[in-house]
Amino acid sequence: MANAIKFFELNTGAKIPSVGLGTWQSSPGLVGDAVATAVKIGYRHIDCAQIYGNEKEIGAVLKKLFEDSVVKREELFITSKLWCTDHDPQDVPEALKRTLQDLQLDYVDLYLMHWPARTKKGSVGIKPENLLPVDIPSTWKAMEALHDSGKARAIGVSNFSTKKLADLLEVARVPPAANQVECHPSWRQTKLREFCKSKGVHLTAYSPLGSPGTTWLKSDVLKNPILNMAAEKLGKSPAQIALRWGLQMGNSVLPKSTNEGRIKENFDVFDWSIPEDLFTKFSEIEQARLLTAPFFVHETLSPYKSLEELWDGEI
Ligand code: A2P
Repeated sequence: MANAIKFFELNTGAKIPSVGLGTWQSSPGLVGDAVATAVKIGYRHIDCAQIYGNEKEIGAVLKKLFEDSVVKREELFITSKLWCTDHDPQDVPEALKRTLQDLQLDYVDLYLMHWPARTKKGSVGIKPENLLPVDIPSTWKAMEALHDSGKARAIGVSNFSTKKLADLLEVARVPPAANQVECHPSWRQTKLREFCKSKGVHLTAYSPLGSPGTTWLKSDVLKNPILNMAAEKLGKSPAQIALRWGLQMGNSVLPKSTNEGRIKENFDVFDWSIPEDLFTKFSEIEQARLLTAPFFVHETLSPYKSLEELWDGEI
């Protein structure tokens, strides 16, 4: 019997369910049903963010799931994220307040700084003229206060390179519990993962399928021949192999889907495993970051003059 890998433990002692439902690009009108379907199937982790523009719809569905006794609040693990417009320490509690109102919750299980980047308060879209210098330690202090208040049971970061995470760990009173980053077989994050492991920071993988629906990313992660060879040998779908690979690497994974069949498929990754000989083959897969986020880079207007600086060479 394979190790099911249902949870990972955070440095707070809390358990983060290893498979969560991603909600980035889940359309209004579809995301609510997706969350309800996922919870009924057994998902206990929903990954949200204010910028996804769908927290209200998710909140309405969560309320109904609680009312109908499908699940209890304390059985769920809800993540949300502080958007770049709200990095001013004064704006951080307000941003979480809005998220909690939208989600109709008293607390989130994990609150992440979405990017190590800041844009003008109230601005829409990441345009060069909206980029501002960033002061991660001050924003983090405000997040620590949210942790103290109990409204964010754990706090963490997202899209942090090894260097940015190390710099934060130097000054943090409450160390980040997690770093949520792009991670899939074609972007393993070897250096960051080793560092996270050594510091007790959990790594959560976004785009664990390589975001095949995001046309501007031109992803072919699920078409990789090694992944497909493993899928054929084990009688699983390429998506299931990508997710199970993530779990066996020690990452929690956040596959996004609004399709009932695929939501089910993505949760069927616990009672089997990728055997060692096949698993080691994955280290041969060519590596490339998909989401390079060039919109945070500008020669004069951004603190990050190049992608090299944004990712500290991990590109
Ligand atoms: P859909 O919502 O129609 O299922 P990622 O989580 O890496 O960002 O990938 C999300 C994308 O992958 C979405 O376009 C989603 O489409 C698609 N997807 C989700 N689950 C699967 C699956 N099991 N097989 C193939 N594509 C999937």
